[in-house]
Amino acid sequence: MASGDLTRGRLGMTGIRSSEIAGVHGRRIWDSRGRPTVEAEVELRSGLLGRSIAPAGASTGSGEAVDRRDGPRDATAAFAGFDVTGAVGAVNGEISAALAGMDVADQTAIDATLVELDGTRDRSRLGGNAMIATSMAVAHAAAAAEDVPLWRHLCGSENGALPLPEIQIFGGGAHAGRRLDVQDFMCIAVGAETFGQALDWTAEVYRAAGELLADAGRLAGIADEGGWWPSFDDNEEALHWLIRAIERAGLEPGEQMAVSLDIAASEFGSNGRYTLACEGRALDTGEMIEKLEGWIARFPIVSIEDPLAEDDLQGLRTFTERVGHAVQVIGDDALVTNAKLVREAAAAGACNAVLVKPNQAGTLSETRAAFDAAAAADWGAVISARSGESEDVTVVHLAVGWGAKQLKVGSFARSERMAKWNEGLRIAESLPGGGELPPRASFPWGRR
Ligand code: PGA
Ligand code: ZN
Repeated sequence: MASGDLTRGRLGMTGIRSSEIAGVHGRRIWDSRGRPTVEAEVELRSGLLGRSIAPAGASTGSGEAVDRRDGPRDATAAFAGFDVTGAVGAVNGEISAALAGMDVADQTAIDATLVELDGTRDRSRLGGNAMIATSMAVAHAAAAAEDVPLWRHLCGSENGALPLPEIQIFGGGAHAGRRLDVQDFMCIAVGAETFGQALDWTAEVYRAAGELLADAGRLAGIADEGGWWPSFDDNEEALHWLIRAIERAGLEPGEQMAVSLDIAASEFGSNGRYTLACEGRALDTGEMIEKLEGWIARFPIVSIEDPLAEDDLQGLRTFTERVGHAVQVIGDDALVTNAKLVREAAAAGACNAVLVKPNQAGTLSETRAAFDAAAAADWGAVISARSGESEDVTVVHLAVGWGAKQLKVGSFARSERMAKWNEGLRIAESLPGGGELPPRASFPWGRR
């Protein structure tokens, strides 16, 4: 079985394919941080099955679907309270009973059933982890029933296309002991023609960055998403080193390889005040915007995620007004993969793209609704994994099947990340355009 192939099920004794759900089996497995997580297997009457694993965030938005954890959250509890026996029990009990007999092809009805069964706004009763693992496993089982890969099941009659990767080189924020305030220093291969070429270039930048840091005695380790964990003195230094790494890889900064940032500002800012710990000072919203504008003027930055905190909608609006014509402004914590919030932000002119994380929404149908709301607003959409991940590659299939133009899954190291990039390479071989990427002009930076 290929590492990324989670859809192969068993044929029943009779060999009959039926899309009726027999039941859902949940089990506790382990994520990339060594924490418990939920795996769900949707089994069909035919014996075919679909399997998926819930990811987990560390820098979460307050409006996200919440994971159900056993608790209590203290260091002396088993697994520091992160165990998921309650969530797994919900999959094996209530969820399995509610979904048994339903048609696996009807994702909308199944997701509505999950939402109704949970009955809470934040998905805390069944657990966002139990719900998303089940919802994604349903999609895998539906693809297995059709005997097609998940991306093909999702794109129906249209041809799928590979997304442009956004790949972390340095990790900071909540993913690296807050050594840097900014969470992700990433690369986007804006000049690459194919998905494979984008990965080739990024591999060279990642390697060059590691060598540069090691030579200078600045390498402190590997951050949660696989990026280098540097010991820099301030956030801007990381930008200088990133440009150096791009050049050392033989690429032209801006033209071939551009920079993108996830500031994850909710982690260090609220009420219009941003405390930059590694720079030893606090900024107000206006100063924060000026600082980011200064970076945009001096470095080839094409995309900035969560430049301001989730409670600073006016700040997001001002920032988007000032730079949104040339730079992609992505909302993650403020929009939490919620269609209504995307529509409201678009109407207000706050952000021009959304980060799409299925476990923020809780079900695939709601994830798709947020994606569609972005398309309706002529926004960009970046399908994204979480900092706590696994071998599950569902997000890659969503990006291809839905025709999302961008994909973010962390860095270019460690198998929970590489499983996704490698799945993209496999899918590319089946697409009519191979791994051809969307044209540059279709991105905001292409109109610069
Ligand atoms: P998280 O980080 O998965 O820890 O929330 C990813 C992001 O902020 O984009
Ligand atoms: Zn983010």
